[in-house]
Amino acid sequence: MPPQTQTRRRPRRGRLIVFEGIDGTGKTTQAKFLERDLRRAGHPCIRSHEPGGTKRGAVLRDLLLHPPRGRWRTKSETFLFLADRHEHVQSVILPALERGQHVVLDRFTHSTLAFQGYGGDLTLRERGELSLILKFATDGLVPDLVILLDMPARDALARVRRRGDARTDFEKRGAPRNEKIRRGFLSIARGQKKGQGRGQNRGQNSRQSGSGEKTRFVVLDADQDEKVIRARVWEAVAPLL
Ligand SMILES: Nc1ncnc2c1ncn2[C@@H]1O[C@H](COP(=O)(O)OP(=O)(O)OP(=O)(O)O)[C@@H](O)[C@H]1O
Ligand SMILES: [Mg+2]
Repeated sequence: MPPQTQTRRRPRRGRLIVFEGIDGTGKTTQAKFLERDLRRAGHPCIRSHEPGGTKRGAVLRDLLLHPPRGRWRTKSETFLFLADRHEHVQSVILPALERGQHVVLDRFTHSTLAFQGYGGDLTLRERGELSLILKFATDGLVPDLVILLDMPARDALARVRRRGDARTDFEKRGAPRNEKIRRGFLSIARGQKKGQGRGQNRGQNSRQSGSGEKTRFVVLDADQDEKVIRARVWEAVAPLL
């Protein structure tokens, strides 16, 4: 009789699903819905956010949101975000994916490209350099799906003001700057290779990352009823599960 071999099946690696968009577009609202919908459908998952998804990251988040003296220079700010991200990837995101849990993230690498790259007025060459250090900071981890929640900056900021929590330095940027960041997000999404369209969504593109993996990119109109957006999100996520 052949010796018995104990084969413990490794769980299937989880999916990394990221919500992106300017302030007030409903990322946290939809990330919470998705976490709930995944659990209801029997899929183990965790939800986290950037900056500040780890204990060390919480310190960095505080430094980012409340700079000690005036504003950070764009590149210094970027490195703080990237230190936070590296800790997050290594101590939270990758271990969860390896355990077979899906990870729902409130912001990831495209926020850095849009906020610091476009909003921080980096040149085209600098944005290329930023893409390289983003890969360095994430150890090449790319999302399986990015959901970009898009709406005019003025309306999104009005939502943030209605939400009524203390305004951070970031939220004081104002609508014109946020509109520039919004255009950055849209330009990143447009730059992706066309994927299969889904009709109801504004666009669904897939992106070839530097590491050769594909990221699906979905742009949703954020200025709709949150239940409608929730359903669109589920339509985009379900095929990945
Ligand atoms: N579809 C929607 N329609 C109307 N209001 C919404 C919608 N989605 C979220 N909101 C409300 O808008 C405000 C901002 O939403 P939320 O906090 O989810 O946005 P966010 O993108 O996470 O913002 P931030 O970037 O500031 O964290 C909240 O008060 C929320 O209840
Ligand atoms: Mg939020």
